[in-house]
Amino acid sequence: AQSSLVPTPPMGWNSWNHFFQHVTDADVRAAADAMVANGMRDAGYVYVNIDDGWQGTRRPDGTIQSNDRFPDMKTLADYVHTRGLKLGIYSSPGLKTCAKFEGSYGHEMQDAKTYAAWGIDYLKYDLCSFGDKLTVAGNGDQAAPAAFAAQQEAYRKMHDALVAAGRPIVFSLCQYGMSNVWEWGPEVGGNLWRTTGDISDKYDRMALIGFSQAGLSRYAGPGHWNDPDMLEVGNGGMTLDEYRTHMSLWAILAAPLLAGNDLRHMKPEHLAILENKDAIAIDQDSLGKQGDRVSALGPYELWTKPMSHGRTAIALFNRGELAHTMRVNLRELGISPGAHIRNVWANADLPFSDIINPIIPKHGVVLLLVTR
Ligand code: GLA
Repeated sequence: AQSSLVPTPPMGWNSWNHFFQHVTDADVRAAADAMVANGMRDAGYVYVNIDDGWQGTRRPDGTIQSNDRFPDMKTLADYVHTRGLKLGIYSSPGLKTCAKFEGSYGHEMQDAKTYAAWGIDYLKYDLCSFGDKLTVAGNGDQAAPAAFAAQQEAYRKMHDALVAAGRPIVFSLCQYGMSNVWEWGPEVGGNLWRTTGDISDKYDRMALIGFSQAGLSRYAGPGHWNDPDMLEVGNGGMTLDEYRTHMSLWAILAAPLLAGNDLRHMKPEHLAILENKDAIAIDQDSLGKQGDRVSALGPYELWTKPMSHGRTAIALFNRGELAHTMRVNLRELGISPGAHIRNVWANADLPFSDIINPIIPKHGVVLLLVTR
């Protein structure tokens, strides 16, 4: 419904992947300050999203309050807004959130009004304890029909409450990709929906999630996006090649780019990955088309993403354990002499030839941005 809020995939930061449920008001302010100071805001990262762990108890009249780590949400929202950023928050349709904080069950309208009054711009709504009969697992698992209907109803209910509360709030569905959520996410008002279980800061987990997105491209578009979970870039568990693969794959997937690291203590090489202009341009392209896999030969995968103005992004991934020379016929991809080919991570132009043979490092990528 509020699809004009996210004409391109949302970009920003989320507290979960680094701070988990221990996040504080000071951490969120520091993240906002860092995003202004280090150029992330100006590169497009505008949402500052508090994940699970901010909730306190309800007042006797049912109004939700933040806990003592968040003394005043309205003041925090003002702080974030003053810096040209937006504030996101987190809840669950169940009685309890995944980290066992207060959920919104039975208080949907009340909570939507509270969020609007605080100045919240984004809500991640995480299934957690809602409907314990649901199977919580990977892509495509089916919930039992009755549970599935109840789940859809719960998401629609919060969406309608947000609309009624009268403030534009991005609505992010999180139920781990069950029951082909990509087929019905827009109908319940979702602007984005998680398509998988949780990411972690390990190459194997990131790759399992990212490469499993093949085939989902037709479900994404302006206003409604597949969400393979937040970024781990900078959290320290992957090599630079692996983080470049992470960023490249998420850009090809037109995935939300929500950094999940501690922005106060960031290596310049990690910041450079998050702020790479070409990777961001691929992710944020105005055509809003998600890319997809073209071919896979063992661990060597070729993905492309159609872009506006006849441009194309091409990603050559090496999921193998050794460096490998990948042979790609550019003409077969519709690219002809005269095309301008940018080798994104090499920060260099690549001269046209029918066949290219770049060496791709172990777990690495060569990302090309082609302008015809
Ligand atoms: C679930 C979600 C995560 C995070 C946690 C918070 O696991 O998938 O992204 O929000 O809950 O408890």
